Amino acid sequence: MNLDFLIAPLVVGIIGTVLAGLISLIDLIVNNYGEVKLSINDGKKVVTVKGGAPLLSSLAEHDIFLPSACGGRATCGVCKVKIKSDVGPYLPTELPFMTQGEKQKNIRLSCQVKVKANLELEIPEDLFAIQKYSTTVTSIKDLTPDIKELKLALKDPNQISFKAGQYAQLIIPPYGKIKQFTQRAYSISSSPSDRTSLEFVIRLVPGGIATTYIHTLLKAGDDLELIAPLGDFYLRESEADMLCVAGGSGMAPIKSLLFDMYEKGITKRDVYYFFGAGTAADLFYIDLLKDLEKKWRTFHFIPVVTQMDSNDKWKGETGLVTKPLEDFLAAKIPKQNPKQAYLCGSPGMIDAVIKILTAYEVNKDDIFYDKFS
Ligand SMILES: Cc1cc2nc3c(=O)[nH]c(=O)nc-3n(C[C@H](O)[C@H](O)[C@H](O)COP(=O)(O)OP(=O)(O)OC[C@H]3O[C@@H](n4cnc5c(N)ncnc54)[C@H](O)[C@@H]3O)c2cc1C
Ligand code: FES
Repeated sequence: MNLDFLIAPLVVGIIGTVLAGLISLIDLIVNNYGEVKLSINDGKKVVTVKGGAPLLSSLAEHDIFLPSACGGRATCGVCKVKIKSDVGPYLPTELPFMTQGEKQKNIRLSCQVKVKANLELEIPEDLFAIQKYSTTVTSIKDLTPDIKELKLALKDPNQISFKAGQYAQLIIPPYGKIKQFTQRAYSISSSPSDRTSLEFVIRLVPGGIATTYIHTLLKAGDDLELIAPLGDFYLRESEADMLCVAGGSGMAPIKSLLFDMYEKGITKRDVYYFFGAGTAADLFYIDLLKDLEKKWRTFHFIPVVTQMDSNDKWKGETGLVTKPLEDFLAAKIPKQNPKQAYLCGSPGMIDAVIKILTAYEVNKDDIFYDKFS
């Protein structure tokens, strides 16, 4: 039998296999950076890591945690670090997050820079307070059709210290088709006075890695690791009127802020909390905040429902959360009072609220926010 017709595909196959092998070999040789030293703050701390991995995860292996809200996907821009050594030009993924001043100081996104040689870094001392904690799920329950409340107990002998408004990175283990550990940011909704357990409010993002795990697989008794405390969304001391605006799970850090203020007796300034929900079924913690309003004379809670159903019994404000905010700014909150704003939720909502606040002459420097993106 003449098998000539097989020769060509066979040769192509062999060449392909040899080339693939060569590429793997070259990759192994070229990308084998061996052991690399990271010298932090003029050699006060030196760690040895295996070269080739991103700086963010290389540091984390030695329990040095830089802030990170997106889990290394170059979408949050908070994992900035000053690198004194030359690590090559900025990557296109870094540039949108860098100001001219930061570029001059060689500030880089640590999740994007790969460790290929010894590096000198500058890390602010207060970041060394960020730690990894082991926890156990104590409860997980529905607050709305797509929002769950998650309560975690820190494993003994851990106690956490954080500022109300800050967030944690929950570490989601591999499951199903997800083969790697994934980290996502979630604001702590409990008060910092509780140092042994943490509460979170988590909205399901359809198809989302972390929220699918939390909503469908995680259960009471399971272990979960997290990194905390992170973020600069916290109360700034002031006597100015305080405007809080949150949508959906954006409730989390605002709840923590308000209960912390009440517990500490920071109750003199006027506080207005506008909380937006899509439908009446999406409202939650309403009784809890109404009770707080009864106890706290200068706290005003204004929940708002965007879409009303003919069967809904909701008697409160309706429309977008920006509507009562504008009404209050126009007629109910004295114009001459200095104001500070704390916003939390989707980027779209936050941008819309900032527009209104600045139109009412709230100083941009007095507007603090966490965009849940
Ligand atoms: C500082 C900070 C604090 C946060 N706090 C909270 C919190 O308290 N509660 C909470 O529920 N979430 C919070 N988030 C959002 C959270 O970190 C995740 O981004 C979100 O839960 C989606 O994660 P995932 O892994 O399920 O989805 P992914 O697997 O990351 O995303 C799946 C798909 O959904 C899209 N997507 C991602 N996030 C959203 C979103 N929020 N809305 C619509 N589409 C999205 C992605 O672009 C992707 O296409 C916070 C984010 C930040 C930056
Ligand atoms: S961790 Fe989000 S950009 Fe680096």
